[in-house]
Amino acid sequence: MPYPAYMEESIRKVEGTRERRLKEELPRIPVGNRMPVLQEFHPDFVKTSMRELLVGPNKGDRTPNELADLLEGNSRIDPDKIDLTRIDYDVDALIIGAGGAGAAAALIAQENGANVLLVTKLRLGDANTVGYQGGTQAADRPDDSPVLHYLDTMGGARFTADPKLVEALVKDAPDVIRWLESLGVIWDKKPDGSMAEVALAGECVPRCHCCKDYTGLEVMRVLRDEVRCRNINYVEFAPAIELIMDDKGQVAGAILVNLETNELSLVRAKAVVMATGGIGRLHIQGFPTTNHYGATADGLVLAYRVGCPLVDTDTMQYHPTCAAYPIAILGLLVTEKVRGLGAQVVNIDGEQFANPLEPRDVLASCIIRECKERGKGITTPTAELGVWLDSPRIDMIHGEGTVAQNLPAMVRQFGRFDIDITKEPMLVYPGLHYQNGGIKFSPNGATAVPGLFAAGEVEGGVHGKNRLGGNSSLDLFVFGRRAGKSAAQHAKEVRLGKLTLDHVRQWQRELKKAGLTQVRPISPKILPDYARQPHDYLADYVTERLHAGQIKVA
Ligand code: FUM
Repeated sequence: MPYPAYMEESIRKVEGTRERRLKEELPRIPVGNRMPVLQEFHPDFVKTSMRELLVGPNKGDRTPNELADLLEGNSRIDPDKIDLTRIDYDVDALIIGAGGAGAAAALIAQENGANVLLVTKLRLGDANTVGYQGGTQAADRPDDSPVLHYLDTMGGARFTADPKLVEALVKDAPDVIRWLESLGVIWDKKPDGSMAEVALAGECVPRCHCCKDYTGLEVMRVLRDEVRCRNINYVEFAPAIELIMDDKGQVAGAILVNLETNELSLVRAKAVVMATGGIGRLHIQGFPTTNHYGATADGLVLAYRVGCPLVDTDTMQYHPTCAAYPIAILGLLVTEKVRGLGAQVVNIDGEQFANPLEPRDVLASCIIRECKERGKGITTPTAELGVWLDSPRIDMIHGEGTVAQNLPAMVRQFGRFDIDITKEPMLVYPGLHYQNGGIKFSPNGATAVPGLFAAGEVEGGVHGKNRLGGNSSLDLFVFGRRAGKSAAQHAKEVRLGKLTLDHVRQWQRELKKAGLTQVRPISPKILPDYARQPHDYLADYVTERLHAGQIKVA
């Protein structure tokens, strides 16, 4: 039996209400009435979980403690020990991060004439992109339009998103879908050949383009192949640990570390695109995460240190439905597509307590309230809390085989533990999923610091304080492509000055003045706390060898 007996008892209640719930649709909370439930139950509103930054461009702004520590961190390098005349790679465009945004930027930068180097902390394509399941939004049906997409996106964000960025997002969307298809992505289609879109939360019409529930895996497969086929140079296991500037105040490259040998290498680049992704592996407030192993905020740290302001640093996205049982898959994504196809969220008594297609911030808050305030959650044998996501309802609505046909990844994820989601519900709870904010940037990808562009989850403003499902993958490709084009253009025009690491010296002085040098960690973090720790010994190693004059910088 997959679930323990006491959980099966609750499942019998879920089954008992299913027939009645077929016709039951709870109203959504109007956008103007969302704040009370958010303020009381959304993790962003736990006051002690955030603090004001003491240094840098966002001094005075609140951000989660875990992120604040890294933004205020000490550099991994001693600038006096780095020989900036010994360059390993000299390129037009350096792309840092090789997920969806980085790959898109690299492809378009190359198409626009740039000599590109793509560098990544793990392997090409190891990124949150691979894990996105529910799809990519684009208004390309006759009953849809970019205007509706714009309104949904702004409303989902409680009107906190940057209108210019949202405009760019929704206008480019249909072209992004066509571009990906032209490269080889196999979108789900109807028998007549038109796109088989699904509605995710907050969409007024079905707008999400999927490849079953393996969408990100399929898209990244295609982008990875394309990068290789076009002979774009890439370096794996080589995270950037500091940006390099020139004496005109322009970003002009980066210092990389080889994770296997700990050797440093220097890249001089006329333009740099930051595409390092998110921060889930910081496990804000101890939440499990849907994110890949390398999501540790590195790009935010590096950009902040050269003076880039961040936006919406006080907001994280907690995906409402992450696996709460069994413990082996705790925190893994249970795609919103499950709800898009008709699954309801129900409590221990088999009763609905919220509309399943509420925007993510609202539904996550309602689930936390149901478990923590109303005591109507289910406690697992390892003391995790959860509510039921009633997947068998999908086949009742659309016909037998719909779950198996549309959600093979979910069937497999739970099937490994003898849970058949076509017959039994899944236990779910909110998990850390996405960094809503990030580096402040403009629609062409430019940041506040010349020479530095941003794309994908590392940037902010597109989603305001709450992102809709299917808009993050769209963001990767829209702004990855835009940043790639802008970087190539910038590279043609710019004249680099003398390379310098004075910004690191200045940063360390600022930390010292604020009394933080002894109390803040070394950052960027590179790998999560529970990783086999290259970063601790790396820091010692780098420092020791730097001081012994042994470090390889060329
Ligand atoms: O639920 C999901 O499939 C996630 C999609 C997203 O974060 O956009």
